[in-house]
Amino acid sequence: MKAVLCTHFGTPDELELAEIPDPHAGSGEAVVRIKAAALNFFDTLIVAGKYQHKPPFPFSPAAEFAGLVESVGAGVRDIAPGDRVMGNIGWGAAREAVAVPADVLVKIPDKLDFERAAGLTVTYATTLYALRERASLKPGETLAVLGASGGTGLAAIEIGKIMGARVIACASSDEKLTFARAHGADETVNYATEDLRNALKRLGGERGIDVVYDPVGGSYAEPAVRSLGWEGRYLVVGFAAGEIPKLPLNLVLLKSCDIRGVLWGSWVRREPAAQRALMTQIVKWCAQGKLSAHVHAVYPLAEIVAALKAIADRKVMGKIVLRP
Ligand SMILES: NC(=O)c1ccc[n+]([C@@H]2O[C@H](COP(=O)([O-])OP(=O)(O)OC[C@H]3O[C@@H](n4cnc5c(N)ncnc54)[C@H](OP(=O)(O)O)[C@@H]3O)[C@@H](O)[C@H]2O)c1
Repeated sequence: MKAVLCTHFGTPDELELAEIPDPHAGSGEAVVRIKAAALNFFDTLIVAGKYQHKPPFPFSPAAEFAGLVESVGAGVRDIAPGDRVMGNIGWGAAREAVAVPADVLVKIPDKLDFERAAGLTVTYATTLYALRERASLKPGETLAVLGASGGTGLAAIEIGKIMGARVIACASSDEKLTFARAHGADETVNYATEDLRNALKRLGGERGIDVVYDPVGGSYAEPAVRSLGWEGRYLVVGFAAGEIPKLPLNLVLLKSCDIRGVLWGSWVRREPAAQRALMTQIVKWCAQGKLSAHVHAVYPLAEIVAALKAIADRKVMGKIVLRP
């Protein structure tokens, strides 16, 4: 079968498309024939050796996938050949088939297509964990989302609306903000043309912003924290801008506000039952049409270089998917 392999850390151009043996299902495992594999921003980091996880070589990028179960190993009861499933394995899905522990697989409803299902786990689960478990977002609160048209940002708009928040989408172009509004945002801020602090002050009113969801970091973090109201919560989700911000702590004291970290991948390992319940909720919302799981573009597996460059160049709205 074909697989995209990272044999050493470097740029996406250094990835190889190789022929490798088909996988076999060991005890407790299932082999999934991959129909779609979704990429995330962190795939640009993992191939460069700049991510918190550094897999042993050779490895395939792409954490999440959807496909058809081909075979199962001894002891697997809940999953059977022919099942339509999706899953998240951290890395390894940019290939035609993969053997995975059967308990990472979630069955997908017939009306959910493989391409949208592939990208449903990482961004939406991170965001539901962030907004519900970390921020305790309440109906009627104001939620500001940075990088709002990206994978996690789009998820934050949609889940924020489901949870009853007033959502302010912040992004770097009017095209991205039109996309954010089409997916439910109530207000928008173009932080490339308008000062973020002034815009959030205007839109937050006297009370200020209740929750900031920040997957971008860099120079946007401090103005976003300054925009929080009394007992507001600032969620540290990621640093797509590259720079890890440093903040004056007097801001936190003066507003009795919180800076709350979000490390969904570790929460999954600590709370597997809670993660399964969370995914059941996400699949249900998606099947009900409440989550778009918007796919910006689908690339053939062999074009992974262009796919990763589109993410790094800030061109993507929603998700990028590979089709083996
Ligand atoms: N904490 C967790 O558990 C967790 C889970 C998943 C992802 N993450 C992290 O969250 C971050 C965002 O992930 P994502 O999948 O949503 O990424 P994405 O789809 O690529 O979106 C990131 C957004 O960041 C903005 N951005 C600003 N400067 C950028 C730059 N120099 N390069 C690229 N984008 C830039 C872009 O929006 P504008 O152009 O509008 O500014 C872009 O839409 C990543 O750092 C990722 O590692 C964390």
